[in-house]
Amino acid sequence: ADLISAGKVDQQRVFIRADLNVPLNDAGEITEDTRVRASIPAIEMALKAGAAVMVTSHLGRPTEGEFKPEDSLAPVARRLSELLGRDVPLKANWVDGVDVAPGQVVLLENCRVNKGEKKNSEELSRKMAALCDIFVHDAFGTAHRAEASTYGIAQFAKIACAGPLLAAEIDAITKALANPKRPLVAIVAGSKVSTKLTILKSLSANVDGLIVGGGIANTFMLAAGLKIGKSLAEPDLVDEAKAVIEAMKARGAAVPIPVDVVTAKAFAADAPATVKAATDVADDDLILDIGPKTAAQLAEQLKAAGTVVWNGPVGVFEFDAFAKGTETIARAIAASDAFSIAGGGDTLAAIAKYGIEKDVGYISTGGGAFLEVLEGKTLPAFEILSRRAAG
Ligand code: 3PG
Repeated sequence: ADLISAGKVDQQRVFIRADLNVPLNDAGEITEDTRVRASIPAIEMALKAGAAVMVTSHLGRPTEGEFKPEDSLAPVARRLSELLGRDVPLKANWVDGVDVAPGQVVLLENCRVNKGEKKNSEELSRKMAALCDIFVHDAFGTAHRAEASTYGIAQFAKIACAGPLLAAEIDAITKALANPKRPLVAIVAGSKVSTKLTILKSLSANVDGLIVGGGIANTFMLAAGLKIGKSLAEPDLVDEAKAVIEAMKARGAAVPIPVDVVTAKAFAADAPATVKAATDVADDDLILDIGPKTAAQLAEQLKAAGTVVWNGPVGVFEFDAFAKGTETIARAIAASDAFSIAGGGDTLAAIAKYGIEKDVGYISTGGGAFLEVLEGKTLPAFEILSRRAAG
């Protein structure tokens, strides 16, 4: 970003790796375009500086060497054209050469279809590096992957640097965790403890409040000796949940266990919803949301927080009858004076559903990458870019 803003890229060939991996519906339309919008500053910067700009991204998890129509970045090219107010041509088969003039931008088709991309092949990385004078890594959402277009190219390009989005993301997340205004409250929710155990453990050593929700909360309810009926949970991780509760307790902090829940007899949008005390869950009940008393308690805790980190909805918010918990949490974060930082696909969808984009301090474009930074890991993108910067 410094190179670009210093105007050193006039006439240069700039290769930007963005994360334009956006959700598409069955008609192939983009349903949530945060990542496309977030890629615009880097592209505009490079264009303004007079560079010949190539942009690429992966989309989904295609089979290498087998391009299928649904793997195409065509919907993204259209959205980029609208946002940039200029035509963004989409180039297929680009690895051996790209025709692009200074002041122009092209989108290079799904880079994960290239053979050797996932395995970070040296041959592919060198070919991509040869396409440009400057490689700009701006794909925060993919910064936890060491692939040819995110890692290898950074090793072999003449110049490799971080783009403005990558820099801003790491900055915002590390600032929120390194020297946060206290109390620091984290919400870690979603379906499985197993996918978020490392983050629960690392946060429990730092945060003042750890709110769990969704299937994760069900496992914590088991750990607290409560019955959860047929609800989604991971009983074999109950001891791990207990260890997280103990770690928080040892620091005088807490993992609030729901006092009431919203249950149904089936996992369906039209299943009748019943609010119950957490001690009254029946054997054939499914817990699909936190109850109103729990939501109100958590909202108070969030309003009093100095910093909030949010990943994951606390209930099945796609179904209106089970969305109130997540809505209450979202609105409490929006109303709080705390600096809030949110990330993850479902969290972004909840933020959009309740229209609180402007009230969240920082919205991350990362899913897995966001979690890995929260875990305190050094992402491969940062490791290689720092190595290059060190000479
Ligand atoms: C994401 O959506 O989290 C990123 O685009 C990374 O995608 P991946 O998990 O398929 O590597």
